Amino acid sequence: MRRTGASAVLTGNTPPETTAPNGLPEWQSLAAHRRELEPVTIQALFDGDARRFEHFSARAAGLHLDFSKNRLTRQTLLLLAALARARGLESAIARLFSGAEVNGTEGRPALHTALRAPEGADIRVHGENIVPLVQSTLARMKDLTRQLHAGAWPGGTGKPVRDVVCIGIGGSHLGPKMVTTALRPYRNGPLRCRFVANIDGAHITEVLQGLDAETTLFLVASKSFTTRETLANARTARDWFLQQGGSETDLARHFIAVTANTPRATEFGVAPANVFPMWDWVGGRYSLWSAIGLPICFSIGFEHFQALLAGAREMDTHFRDAPIAENMPALLALLAVWHRNFWGAASHAVVPYDHSLRTLPAYLQQLDMESSGKSVRNNGQAADYPTGPVLWGGEGSNGQHAFHQLLHQGSDLVPVDFIVPLRPHHGLADQHTQLFASCLSQGAALMHGRTAAEAYGELVASGLPETEAKRLAPHKAHPGNRPSNTLTMDQLTPRTLGALIALYEHRVFTQGVIWDINPFDQWGVELGKQLAGALYEQLQQPAGGRALDSSTAGQCARYSAANRGR
Ligand code: F6P
Repeated sequence: MRRTGASAVLTGNTPPETTAPNGLPEWQSLAAHRRELEPVTIQALFDGDARRFEHFSARAAGLHLDFSKNRLTRQTLLLLAALARARGLESAIARLFSGAEVNGTEGRPALHTALRAPEGADIRVHGENIVPLVQSTLARMKDLTRQLHAGAWPGGTGKPVRDVVCIGIGGSHLGPKMVTTALRPYRNGPLRCRFVANIDGAHITEVLQGLDAETTLFLVASKSFTTRETLANARTARDWFLQQGGSETDLARHFIAVTANTPRATEFGVAPANVFPMWDWVGGRYSLWSAIGLPICFSIGFEHFQALLAGAREMDTHFRDAPIAENMPALLALLAVWHRNFWGAASHAVVPYDHSLRTLPAYLQQLDMESSGKSVRNNGQAADYPTGPVLWGGEGSNGQHAFHQLLHQGSDLVPVDFIVPLRPHHGLADQHTQLFASCLSQGAALMHGRTAAEAYGELVASGLPETEAKRLAPHKAHPGNRPSNTLTMDQLTPRTLGALIALYEHRVFTQGVIWDINPFDQWGVELGKQLAGALYEQLQQPAGGRALDSSTAGQCARYSAANRGR
């Protein structure tokens, strides 16, 4: 029995909560186990268990996870679960849902789960039940959506709104953009949503093209209401509106905001009644369930938005209640740790075989890399083990003609999450069958591979001279033994999409518990912001100013010369 707390300190054993993950005996056991598995192939594991697919699958909230094509055994799962327990995963999950200050560096809870909690739930922050606040905001979102869909929100000249320009970036953009793209088949109502995020003037110039100021509503989404990109685009939008003939008084009918900083929003000119709240106990990349999700409501209606919340709630319940060995988010996280820390994978690919999920990788990049891209443990000590890998990806089947070459024959191990619905929304059944076959083929090819001898045999059988076949065979061999997960759902609906997003939120949280890092802060974005501000000021000066280095100074001089007189 390992001692914990005071007794551990007295006896010289550091309590588990301060022992680095890679200093735990459970970690050492996994390292030894990994060495034992070196000669074992995934193919051999299938050969040894006719029911491997069934034994290494999990179901939750309408999703099915097939993790059988990984280099792991039941013993691996037991050892990974032991590591999770040693890292206190069960109590960490309870703390997450309870509103404890799991965001240690900012002293905040992370209660994105409260945004989709049942109406009667009691979740307290500083002693106040915040669920009524969430519910009243949802009621306001529902009412605004109803008004806009009914044409009952007239602009300054009395015409109903037709276009909504959603201005935001990062978590105030990627989630709404991804969900409205994914749920296009559920689009209803008169509104057309456009999104602008980049400070590059080309973006808002493109978005404003063809719009009628009289029938356009601007939604400024920014938790801080200080983000440079969002404020620049919001100012440009306001200038455009006024140049198009809109009046200052009309602004109230054409600008709404979602923010935790109401004073800054009203200072910008948004009417107080048009400000929807956000709270510091929800991180930006975890916020699409809040009023940040208004574009989702505008696009597919409030009822489908509620179904999205319900799907996430279902995954929450599963994550909170399921034992680790059957816990889908925990399994995905433990597989990520297994590949990152024991097989040296430097990146992880997410490849949705679903055109409507084409922006999911970009969304997951922020969710995972802004959460897991840290190298300092919760206690402030440097982590001397790898933490968050690069997350990247792209839609299948396109990727097969772009980056799958590297997945199959590259020098690096890249675990892949394939995501594919069993049934489409479109009527092209044969193309969906071809899509599904392509997805399955990729996972199979990654696992089976093809030896040089097999490649040689195929080449000779195709009629190639033996010398030519011998020359080409090594180039056509596929190493194989490369892992992948396959996530399926019957159909991509608001509910299953909500569950899928919550699945990855909780995967990220579990990774943070194992790696002993805080998945809810993002201090790494501050320095760039500060330097950008200083350089922006410097570029305004004719003679420039003190440069950080000769490269920056040289570039500032080139920029100024190219834009002199503009
Ligand atoms: O990238 C830094 C970040 O703070 C993200 O965490 C956040 O989602 C994004 O910028 C936008 O922030 P805000 O919603 O405050 O404009």
